[in-house]
Amino acid sequence: MPGYRLSKVIVIAHRGASGERPEHTLESYQLAIDQGADYIEPDLVMTRDGVLIARHENEIGGTTDVADHPEFADRKRSQIIDGETMSGWFTEDFTLAEIKTLRARERLPELRPQNRAFDGKVFVPTFDEILQLANDTNRRRDGAPRIGVYPETKHPAHFAGIGLPQELAVLRSLERFDYGGTGSPVFIQSFDPNNLRQLRGMTQLPLVQLLEHELGDLRLIAEYADAIGIAKSLASREGVTAAHEAGLAVHVWTFRAENEFLPDDLKIGNSPAGHGNLEAEIERYLSRGIDGFFTDFPAIGVRARNAAEGAPVPTFPPSTRRTSR
Ligand code: G3P
Ligand code: CA
Repeated sequence: MPGYRLSKVIVIAHRGASGERPEHTLESYQLAIDQGADYIEPDLVMTRDGVLIARHENEIGGTTDVADHPEFADRKRSQIIDGETMSGWFTEDFTLAEIKTLRARERLPELRPQNRAFDGKVFVPTFDEILQLANDTNRRRDGAPRIGVYPETKHPAHFAGIGLPQELAVLRSLERFDYGGTGSPVFIQSFDPNNLRQLRGMTQLPLVQLLEHELGDLRLIAEYADAIGIAKSLASREGVTAAHEAGLAVHVWTFRAENEFLPDDLKIGNSPAGHGNLEAEIERYLSRGIDGFFTDFPAIGVRARNAAEGAPVPTFPPSTRRTSR
């Protein structure tokens, strides 16, 4: 088995158990861990004082209550990020202490109305707090596999350009929490090949090239990466085989239970927010030989993976809701 193709398909909790809790909160990661996810996935951006925090993008108007804070009204601005004009509030304009005065919000309130119960109650975590959560779990697990961590650098060129490079900060945090050594359950992912090439010169940890529109030159990618993280549209059987032949593991995103995200034949009912047959969708991709997948619903992902591999279907303890920090 070449490189980082592991002995079992890995379930990666996409932004935590983000189908059931606001994404990128400790509550979301905790639920993912409780549900048996192998890896938790933080997207990472920087604060003004150089702290890595978990947000999908550096604009935080969509996933926090920053717009309700009059003291931050004058921070609203527009800028071009990765070639796109963005307007709102940006993490690089806030210190960590200021970020901690905000509360997280559900990104998709129409599709996930039940998650709105957490709006205003949950915080934006630092990468270190997420790693601490993983370590706290590892200590309690007593011999069971460690929780894996699958961080993504978001907008790395933008942050490097304003004097807030992410690479060393990510590696130092991983080392601080005992995730820096060879063999640690870690994948570092990015859409930016330059960022990955830079990381390749700094670490032996496995790197993942994210791809959305085409697979590209897989042999070239294999020079600096160990896996590809690809959109479902790219995950044909032929594509998966080609990646494996290039020595790359294949992880696929993103599996979501709402009808809105499912193919027509797996929808149940007419409501976009209703849940269809996600387990069947995951099975289709597992049959193509993928090595892992990102899902907003890790409980369903673990069930589908275990069913496909003939493992016993686990029963999960009730979620232990954390007090937010
Ligand atoms: O990182 C895999 C997948 O999460 C990439 O998409 O936009 O959800 O970060 P995104
Ligand atoms: Ca991501």
